[in-house]
Amino acid sequence: MQYMLAPMEKLADSSFRYLCHKYGADLTFTELTRFETLVKKNKSALKRIVLYDDTPTMIQIMGKNEQKLEEFMSSFSPEKGFQGFNLNLCCPSQTYVKQGIGSAMIKRPTKIKRMVDIVKNYGYNVNIKLRLGVNKTEKKEKVYLSLIERVDADFFIVHARHRSESYEIKADWRIFSECVKTGKDIVANGDIKTKEDVKKMKEIGCIGVMIGRAAMNNPLIFGQLKDMKVPTLKDVRQEYIELCKNREFNYSENVLKSLR
Ligand SMILES: Cc1cc2nc3c(=O)[nH]c(=O)nc-3n(C[C@H](O)[C@H](O)[C@H](O)COP(=O)(O)O)c2cc1C
Repeated sequence: MQYMLAPMEKLADSSFRYLCHKYGADLTFTELTRFETLVKKNKSALKRIVLYDDTPTMIQIMGKNEQKLEEFMSSFSPEKGFQGFNLNLCCPSQTYVKQGIGSAMIKRPTKIKRMVDIVKNYGYNVNIKLRLGVNKTEKKEKVYLSLIERVDADFFIVHARHRSESYEIKADWRIFSECVKTGKDIVANGDIKTKEDVKKMKEIGCIGVMIGRAAMNNPLIFGQLKDMKVPTLKDVRQEYIELCKNREFNYSENVLKSLR
């Protein structure tokens, strides 16, 4: 079972990812970044994908212009720690959905297949993070299943909500079995926080679990779920502060608030 730290914009910076990995997470993800912006060499976008150490990290990208994706791939040089790319098909933001990206792309398997091939042609691993559709109609039509069936990504991280569902609505874990039945590798995401939750996902046949909010104020959760010996939260907070001293790009204000 793989334990993964979820991508979290303005929170899961390199120091946070390092600590989650040190204390149990097998894999981490950068926050979403538009590859169309990266291609323009936009400084603030480029900072988001800098890896400061060898923490196993997937770089999450989002966008729809295939030529720009090709351009970005041809200019990209992997740093230590880089494990591959994650394609964001889950962002619920209205702005992005209006532009036809993020969760609006779940129903476009042919396009996604082409985008996955572009990344693979450069020899990089690629996986996908998706929701169940943009609304309950798409969920009912099972657009997520067609995507998983038709696209050959290394694995699929399924956030078990459709785009219009907020965190108040419980993630619909019933959908994981049918995702697993496709024969593809599935990582479960949404409301996972206890050993019992992880056991359930293992029984269903998921290859991993991805944890977001439960790690926000407890980066030790991965180690705790794995019965690893972990330090106190107070010590980890201090370790985070020390790490940030040498890392210009960080979200320390947000992280320290959530680690209070
Ligand atoms: C502060 C915050 C920022 C997030 N930013 C991203 C992001 O950049 N990319 C992404 O795919 N998901 C993002 N998410 C969604 C999480 O990765 C995850 O799918 C979601 O929180 C459900 O998992 P959880 O119940 O374990 O929190 C974000 C979530 C939070 C709380």
